[in-house]
Amino acid sequence: MTKLLGIYGSPRKGGNSDILLDKIISGAKETGAEVKCIYVRDLRIGGCLECGGCDKTGICIIDDAMQDVYQLLQDADVIILTAPVFFYGLPSQTKALVDRAQAMWNKRILEKSGNALKTYDSGRGYIISIGATKGQNLFEGIELTAKYFYDALDMEYKGGLFFKKIEEKKAILKHEDAIKEAFTFGKRIAG
Ligand SMILES: Cc1cc2nc3c(=O)[nH]c(=O)nc-3n(C[C@H](O)[C@H](O)[C@H](O)COP(=O)(O)O)c2cc1C
Repeated sequence: MTKLLGIYGSPRKGGNSDILLDKIISGAKETGAEVKCIYVRDLRIGGCLECGGCDKTGICIIDDAMQDVYQLLQDADVIILTAPVFFYGLPSQTKALVDRAQAMWNKRILEKSGNALKTYDSGRGYIISIGATKGQNLFEGIELTAKYFYDALDMEYKGGLFFKKIEEKKAILKHEDAIKEAFTFGKRIAG
């Protein structure tokens, strides 16, 4: 059974990315996947201090909500991160979670070397993102951040879903195709 972790990365409760991830999870549950969720806005996760505490151990020394998140990240076979575009990047609360994956990056390079670093043995990662405008490069920053987040987790980045011109809180609900696509996506990736 696939162990799926959904990371709700928007500070806006019940907003567009929440709605999409809810749908994806409904689809995934139809396949029998075991689903766990993280609501980043409800957690107190401080930014990486670049203290070097994890350099030789792969373990972060900051005692906050991230300590439980590390375990969830490690246990998952599939991770789906959802977030709106904020100034071409992730919302700062969610970026703090991503930056704290530096400890997992150190763990990875302590445990693996050479060619082994070219393979991903811990599963697959996806990103779902939404932005208000229609710029050609709207998701470039977020996608690169997601790719290297999953790299740190020893997971292969497998792409995702991206929706432009969505701004108001529940605007995505007017886009029936997007909602259907999210449900189908959940079914497909959890299988
Ligand atoms: C602080 C902030 C920064 C934003 N920056 C961008 C941006 O750079 N580009 C863009 O297209 N939309 C931007 N937006 C709009 C959101 O991405 C958009 O409203 C999105 O639908 C919100 O999704 P949510 O309901 O899941 O939070 C920004 C919104 C906020 C509040």
